[in-house]
Amino acid sequence: MNTQLIDRSGQVAGGCCGGPAPEGVAACCVKDAEAKVGGAKVGGEVGGGSGSAPHKEGTLSSCCGESSPASKDPRGNVASQVTRDEIRQAVRTQYSQVAESDGCGCGTAGSACCGSTGTDLNTLSQALGYSPSEASSVPAGANMGLGCGNPQVIASLQPGETVVDLGSGGGFDCFLASRQVGDTGRVIGVDMTPAMVSKARANAAKGSYRNVEFRLGEIESLPIADATADAIISNCVINLSPDKQRVFSESYRVLKPGGRLAIVDIVAFAEPPEEIRQDMALFTGCMAGASLVEEIETMLQTAGFQEIRVSPKGESKSFIRDWAPNAPITDYVVSATIEAVKPAT
Ligand SMILES: C[S@@+](CC[C@H](N)C(=O)[O-])C[C@H]1O[C@@H](n2cnc3c(N)ncnc32)[C@H](O)[C@@H]1O
Repeated sequence: MNTQLIDRSGQVAGGCCGGPAPEGVAACCVKDAEAKVGGAKVGGEVGGGSGSAPHKEGTLSSCCGESSPASKDPRGNVASQVTRDEIRQAVRTQYSQVAESDGCGCGTAGSACCGSTGTDLNTLSQALGYSPSEASSVPAGANMGLGCGNPQVIASLQPGETVVDLGSGGGFDCFLASRQVGDTGRVIGVDMTPAMVSKARANAAKGSYRNVEFRLGEIESLPIADATADAIISNCVINLSPDKQRVFSESYRVLKPGGRLAIVDIVAFAEPPEEIRQDMALFTGCMAGASLVEEIETMLQTAGFQEIRVSPKGESKSFIRDWAPNAPITDYVVSATIEAVKPAT
């Protein structure tokens, strides 16, 4: 992640951390959220981890007047509704700043084009699995170095197919998919950050793409009709969702029967310690929100998917390490491909 946004200790720079975020700004770190919910933590303690959300005065849960499901941690699928919104707002704030500053690189260390490692964007793209011709084929600014792999490698996109990209950012993977599906196909990118959608639309105009559109929306409530897509791709986004089960259930809904998931994301192969899971900068930097491989498999099954395959890529630790050099993050998370199929009948 851009060093201008997050400092070496993993805190959001420019900072509202260490106390409540300014009026009108949702939590940008765990401490803000704690202050805003009257002392309850964003993670483990909101709702007590296994019961219903607290209803004491001053908590955000009680101000919604709803009996939300309990919260376990910001990574997961059981945060209370208000906590989920707090998390989404922190993520949106982060990626607005990335879009508006032309930032690039996932993580917190300022990797690649905007940071300390000295690696340029082309080198980073190749490490993620993009060929030099793919990286150079898209409009300038579309490839922001925000991914953690290349979903095209597993998507097997065919001419005429309809593809949805969850969390499309500047549009990089959508523009690559556009070439694969051709004039008779269609690509729909969905992103919840208005600045990202504007950027992607400007990039599409620059490249005169006629079969790509970008929609503003949350991947937990996709702005797409049932049974629309032949394939859903996504690159380093679902780890950022506070309700991953809904993302997979919504993906199932918008896929046609027989449609497929071709996702690249950060997953956990071991449970990260509390100090990592509770670090909002590591969360918005695509690390702390990673679900365990077994959890992802269970969520996909619950959504109805078959032929589920989650394949961790050990070599990805080389670039993930650069995202947070001061945290032992690669002891816990790795990039993986996530594939699954909606039954044909
Ligand atoms: C790490 S960036 C990846 C962008 C893009 N996939 C790429 O590889 O360049 C994450 C993107 O997902 C978007 N995002 C995160 N959580 C989201 C959610 N719950 N709903 C929709 N978009 C989300 C962010 O706004 C941001 O543009």
